[in-house]
Amino acid sequence: MEKDFINFHKPFVTDDEIKEVVETVRSGWWTTGPKTIEFEKEFNHYIGSSYSLAVSSWTAAAHLALEAIGLQKGDEVILPSMTFTATAEIVCYFNAKPVIVDVQKKSLNINPLEIEKAITSRTKAIIPVHYGGNPCDMSEIIELADQYNLKIIEDAAHALPSWYKGKLVGNIGDVTCFSFYVTKTLATGEGGMICTNNKEIADRCSIMRLHGINKDAWKRYSNEGSWYYEVVAPGYKYNFTDIQAALGIAQLKKIDLMHQERKKIFEKYNKVFSQNELIQLYEYEEDRKPSYHLYPIFLNLEQLKINRSQFIDEMKKVGIGASVHFIPLYRHPYYKNTFGLEEKNFPVSEFMYPRIITLPIWPGMTDNQIYRVAESVNTISKKYKK
Ligand SMILES: Cc1ncc(COP(=O)(O)O)c(C=O)c1O
Repeated sequence: MEKDFINFHKPFVTDDEIKEVVETVRSGWWTTGPKTIEFEKEFNHYIGSSYSLAVSSWTAAAHLALEAIGLQKGDEVILPSMTFTATAEIVCYFNAKPVIVDVQKKSLNINPLEIEKAITSRTKAIIPVHYGGNPCDMSEIIELADQYNLKIIEDAAHALPSWYKGKLVGNIGDVTCFSFYVTKTLATGEGGMICTNNKEIADRCSIMRLHGINKDAWKRYSNEGSWYYEVVAPGYKYNFTDIQAALGIAQLKKIDLMHQERKKIFEKYNKVFSQNELIQLYEYEEDRKPSYHLYPIFLNLEQLKINRSQFIDEMKKVGIGASVHFIPLYRHPYYKNTFGLEEKNFPVSEFMYPRIITLPIWPGMTDNQIYRVAESVNTISKKYKK
């Protein structure tokens, strides 16, 4: 094994994060407080949304969003196969049904034609997942949502910042949920954000994220607040902390710089791979600008003597961490058995899944690391060419 292992991901940390966190720890406000409010304001300003509410994770954000749109037992929510379990599990929290549909071959994003086929009288919402930060076909999805009176909750866990037809993701569907998990493009360790232009949804999420008590309950221990509060619903405890907000504020200041860094890595990889006919590259449509959260490649398995898993093992042997996004949901025992899903009904996912490898793409990667990753992919694929 090479000495300097290149991790699949590493957060981009400078003195700014450390300074903000130390200041916050010294301030004594460790949980939700003034730093969280400041982060929400700055995030809201960046996205250009009417309301931004910080919570403990994407999962918490999307759970609250589904609660706020009134999802009920027996309802159905349409979502893609190529995503993390969180996208579907939040639907199960309500004893509602995640209706998992196939994706498009080029983007691995939800296929609007599959959405239309899956709509029934019980369908309440669609959760488009912007795979790797590549925006879904939102015009088509909005058209369907309007036609069938469905809500759109965008899974933008990968999509900060991403643009669809010139519009920043966060301002398109009814609600957009972001993730600040450590591997994401803005990281606070754990964390998430709900963005919406709908006041009713924002008000409900705001109450439900803190035990169902009135809005400014977080202030009750400060001189501005009051000891008195009322519980209006059995809510959740999905607090975002000021320590997380300190990281978020520092990270948000360099969000565009980090985006540029990932774009440069994307371009460098593309160049090194341009002559490699043993892999296929992920391509973006002209009308969208991605976050470059992931750099997927697709193995041309027909021309290789090894499978994807062996390929990743070979990469590990030369000191490179790679990943797979995603194991399709219908392949997991829970979804497969509970909803009687069969692989043959997801032909595109089945074709693409065994080929996908996602490569390291994080700001702070040196040229040496970038070229080591790319050249290792070329060397391994050539070594195992049929
Ligand atoms: C597409 C997608 N949605 C949702 C999530 C869940 O995010 P969180 O860990 O913030 O709950 C992830 C996390 O990896 C993800 O990749």
